[in-house]
Amino acid sequence: MRVLVIGSGGREHALLLGLDRDPSVSELHVAPGNAGTASVATNHAVDVASAEAVVALATEIGADLVVIGPEVPLVLGVADALRAAGVDTFGPGAQAARIEGSKAFAKDVMAAAGVRTARAETVDNPADLDAALDRFGPTWVVKDDGLAAGKGVVVTTDRSAARAHAADCLENGHPVLLESFLDGPEVSLFCLVDGETVVPLLPAQDHKRVGDGDAGPNTGGMGAYAPLPWLPDEMTQRIVDEVVAPVAAELSARGMPFNGLLYAGLAIDAEGPAVVEFNCRFGDPETQAVLELMESPLGEALAATARGTLADLPPLRWHDGAAVVVVLAAENYPGRPRTGDPIRGADGEGILHAGTARDADGTVVSAGGRVLSVVGRGDDLAGARAQAYERLAGVTLVGAHHRTDIGKAAEDGLISI
Ligand code: GLY
Repeated sequence: MRVLVIGSGGREHALLLGLDRDPSVSELHVAPGNAGTASVATNHAVDVASAEAVVALATEIGADLVVIGPEVPLVLGVADALRAAGVDTFGPGAQAARIEGSKAFAKDVMAAAGVRTARAETVDNPADLDAALDRFGPTWVVKDDGLAAGKGVVVTTDRSAARAHAADCLENGHPVLLESFLDGPEVSLFCLVDGETVVPLLPAQDHKRVGDGDAGPNTGGMGAYAPLPWLPDEMTQRIVDEVVAPVAAELSARGMPFNGLLYAGLAIDAEGPAVVEFNCRFGDPETQAVLELMESPLGEALAATARGTLADLPPLRWHDGAAVVVVLAAENYPGRPRTGDPIRGADGEGILHAGTARDADGTVVSAGGRVLSVVGRGDDLAGARAQAYERLAGVTLVGAHHRTDIGKAAEDGLISI
């Protein structure tokens, strides 16, 4: 099977390495890719937001399967264009992708499907903002109602910080979603979905804040671990039954069946799961940890989803133990990152590339905010953490920073529902 992966992050590098381990995959291509993906696939410098360009590439290389990583091409309808051209595609069409692209649409689908989520109000007029803020908080949850790569959400006990973020979004012409705060530890559950068949992967947990102890602003994700030792075994099936399957059924009933990866971001409390957000694609960096533990062939699972035969897929098999991924970020991330610096040790074991490129001399240099994802695996979280941080110690990038506590609270038994 010849597979084309769309995207350029650590998530896509992990997808490519997982596909490379599948004997049914004979050839790998990626667009645009990064300096690391070039060692496992052929990189193609193509504008992945252009449906025309992606279809042309898939046709030129004779792709048997296209796997779309990021949300932007999905929301723009690239999967629709590929399917219209007869190419098997993993990723939802533009209508279903609104489950991530529009928070208001997601709330409407959840209400119709009877799925538990935060109370929410959309504000699109600055004159209504103060009264709306008074109906929420503390704690305030303020979301940009659009794609913001995980950085459009501010969660704060400080009303003026909540107001400033909301005013900023409104000034930029984006409606704002105010939500009631959901308490309880967060879970990312990724599910393969073809219409109404739902197959969950291992639950994972992201670390969204930039600093140790969850200090500082939100980022796209600074690290993750899987599975979750504190999550009761039956919770994964409960999330499928109470959250993901009803939403998939609702999207099908609306004539926009979801095909691809439905990512439920949840808070778990004594009552069970409540949705924080949905995404229409694999999460980054959780994917790097989850796929590290996947024993079943990845290409077979993604192709079955794309072809609508997920119900016939044998149950997924997983390696025992745990996986941890630590993100190495460039100086100043999540602000405007410093780029163009050489990275030493970037070709080490377990090092996945995200914001990297090669300069004119062929040296791997930083080229984005989240530069590398470093993965470790072990018999348990302590072993996985030790391996990830040992591998990270072999990397040098001037000004770079990372969290030192990925998976630590779970390892120390400090997370409970
Ligand atoms: N891990 C957060 C995201 O992928 O949006």
